Amino acid sequence: MKTDNSSTRIAQALRSRAAALPPGAALPSVRALMREMGVGPATVQQALHALAREGVLESFPGRGTFVAGAPAATEAGDTLWQTLALGPARAGAADLLALSEVPPAGTFPLNVGYLPPELRATSLLNAAAARALRQPGVWDRMPGTGLPALRRWFAGAIGCPEHEVIVCPGTQPALAAAFQGLAAPGSRVLMESPTYLGALLAARAAGLVPVPVPTDAEGVRPEPLEAALRESGARLLYLQPTHANPTGASLAPARRAAVMDLAHRHGLFILEDDWARDFGFEAAPPPLAANDPEGHVILLRSLTKCAAPGLRVGALRVRGAAFERLRAARVAVDFFVPALLQETALNLLTAPSWPRHLRRLRAALRARRDALAAALRERLGDSCLDALPSGGLHLWLRLPGDADDEAVARAAAHRQVLVSAGRAWFPAEATGPRLRLSFAAVDPAVATTVAGRIAEAVREA
Ligand SMILES: Cc1ncc(COP(=O)(O)O)c(C=O)c1O
Repeated sequence: MKTDNSSTRIAQALRSRAAALPPGAALPSVRALMREMGVGPATVQQALHALAREGVLESFPGRGTFVAGAPAATEAGDTLWQTLALGPARAGAADLLALSEVPPAGTFPLNVGYLPPELRATSLLNAAAARALRQPGVWDRMPGTGLPALRRWFAGAIGCPEHEVIVCPGTQPALAAAFQGLAAPGSRVLMESPTYLGALLAARAAGLVPVPVPTDAEGVRPEPLEAALRESGARLLYLQPTHANPTGASLAPARRAAVMDLAHRHGLFILEDDWARDFGFEAAPPPLAANDPEGHVILLRSLTKCAAPGLRVGALRVRGAAFERLRAARVAVDFFVPALLQETALNLLTAPSWPRHLRRLRAALRARRDALAAALRERLGDSCLDALPSGGLHLWLRLPGDADDEAVARAAAHRQVLVSAGRAWFPAEATGPRLRLSFAAVDPAVATTVAGRIAEAVREA
């Protein structure tokens, strides 16, 4: 009985560890695990077998145990040629893959950038989808720019004409299309440092070279931005002016004017990722795109964050010649967003209780932010957090200067708390050790427990 209990505990710890590692990563030997966990060989073997059955780990006699899901190059000799043909993996790819994993049951997934099930609009969505299914033509082709009524809804929400809207399957594919459509491979793209790592990866996948621009508590800094513009010759800037992921910072009003002025003077496109528009706890300034008659700003909105991750619907707002470029880039990837999803989104957004969902969501998120921040400050000191973000989903935790963020993330995963190491969020070198924590994942009732485990992980690492 004791062995069973201990092996369940060890399986849980190894499951969390595997979740934080890329596929193919080696686990310590059985002997090392016995020493580390203070148990006998039978207990470790039992846990490893259980995880192999679940498909979490793979064991190869004589070679060791590895996180499952790696290409079978070492097993099947006939695919080894792929390693040569593929060349080195793209920087950041493993970090984004780790982040997009579905978290194992029993963990606190503070590495996830979406709402947890209890905060999603699930019943509203179910009703919206049921109505969509009854609509005629729900399996038909759709225009590449989207369902006209949904384009109209986004146009109203953004404050622009309908013909400037392109519906997309969330903002990640829209980012990919925008990087491909707005800049030639090999050119530079300015990115806040730190920034959303999915944007970094999409830019690199489009053959662009990210150039970091420093930020502070008021968002991107205009003077270094101007210097970077002059030195790099870049004509594209990826920006999150409102509740940026990962820092939570919002661009100060005076800087908004300065950034727009730079865009006019340097002929610059700004890709404005407005992913957190629905998550403001206080009134936020309008997007840069609201005051942009000359078409410098391309705006991205998403419903995956405020409704549920499976409602993969978002929108691009773009005017001028860039519209056709982005329309073509979008269609080249996946033709159109399925009608079923678009009709569902439209039903949801026009449901009388949608505004109530958003109000409740903001209140719940604010309570989660406050509870986790207070618990972290109590255990790690006030300086572990700067001013709290006035919206969004994340806290950007400062670690002691000599801490290794990845070691802390691993130590936290051993304690079933999944977090994202800060270094992956920087286009170049990190300016200090940080963790990105999604406060959305933490019910206030468990904030103390979670913060306690993070503090233990910091001490251990
Ligand atoms: C800043 C930011 N932009 C875009 C995305 C992509 O979101 P989606 O494709 O689900 O709309 C994310 C997801 O985490 C994000 O954090």
